Amino acid sequence: MKAEFQAKKVNENVYWVGVIDWELADFHGYATPQGSTYNAFLVLDEKNVLIDTVKAPYYDEMMSRIRSVIDPGEIDIIVSNHSEMDHSGALLSTYNEVHPEAVYASPKGVEALKRHLKPGFEVLPVAEGQQLSIGKATLTFMLSTMVHWPDSMFTHYDLDGGVLFSNDAFGMHVASTERWADELDPARIRFETAKYYANILWPTSKAVLSVIKKLRGSGLPIATLAPDHGPLWRKDLETVLGWYDGWASGSTRENKAVILFDTMWGSTAKMARAIAEGLGDAGLSVKVMPMSKSHRSDVATELLEASAFVVGTPALNAGIFPTVADVLTYVKGLRPSKPPIPGAAFGSFGWSPAVQKKLAEELAAMGVELVEDPLQVNYVPGSDDLVACVDYGRRIAEKVLAERLDS
Ligand code: FEO
Repeated sequence: MKAEFQAKKVNENVYWVGVIDWELADFHGYATPQGSTYNAFLVLDEKNVLIDTVKAPYYDEMMSRIRSVIDPGEIDIIVSNHSEMDHSGALLSTYNEVHPEAVYASPKGVEALKRHLKPGFEVLPVAEGQQLSIGKATLTFMLSTMVHWPDSMFTHYDLDGGVLFSNDAFGMHVASTERWADELDPARIRFETAKYYANILWPTSKAVLSVIKKLRGSGLPIATLAPDHGPLWRKDLETVLGWYDGWASGSTRENKAVILFDTMWGSTAKMARAIAEGLGDAGLSVKVMPMSKSHRSDVATELLEASAFVVGTPALNAGIFPTVADVLTYVKGLRPSKPPIPGAAFGSFGWSPAVQKKLAEELAAMGVELVEDPLQVNYVPGSDDLVACVDYGRRIAEKVLAERLDS
């Protein structure tokens, strides 16, 4: 039977057998207008190995790509690098069709797969650095705990210059027929890699730094980085490793402020415009993000390389405006606090003057270093109020720039 979907060659004996999800619009709260891919890989040798699977609904498409190369019954081993359902969703169906001699995962992966799939077959745990000969090639397992989940693991293939199957790490949510990052626009690649880092890996930056250090110290050859989302990397691997180093350590932050706000009757918006003016006059570039047209995951992306986070809310029912509260909850979970981002709170109120103080407390709780007291305006800002807003922005920028010079 002719396969409907074809495998794509990664190198002599490694094939991409994943799927392209053109329709994905949201990945657990992260807007993905570019779609994504779920990458699975087939390694041919004396023992044929399938590395990761795909989301459950795409099982048939993955099997079709496998069938374009070998009979799926010839798969001897399945390696599950990560138990999250975008990579393990089709594992059970695959197992039931293929009946491999072994399924491997990290020790935490074994536990997680039991909870997710109730598989009814044994999953064998592999240890850090454990090797598995599959014929001419050797696989080496490297635990990448918390990049992205406790069970996350990398698998290294040692032929053809080396391939690192890195699961979520170094991925991006981009659907494309191109399989290599260097075939796409470099600016788009950097943006989407940063967006993925900000929204998926930022909370575990400490683990990212330690895995990169381990990778660099391992001496394992790597000609190809093969993540489970988006295109693969075969050129300038140090570039993407360097981006990860910078994002994880905060060293890529720029002289840039992010102003996030929403508004009821335009007063907080007027304040935002005036504060942006002051920030810009004092030397920061400013990204103004009205919640009327900004998604929480784009705010996270902008914050990844920002040096100031200035947030405005009007008072609504004595509370923070819901769209602003949504972003605060989301960004708080991303823990952008190491090193802390300087910031401040502002907004207008009618009869609930405590709201901007509440906003400042929320910012402090997420690790923002407050460099000014909240700036408030009762009802509608007049000319003097707007002058005060410009001054407020200028003072924030001066403090941020002085702090950056000192560090
Ligand atoms: Fe792509 Fe953590 O799953």
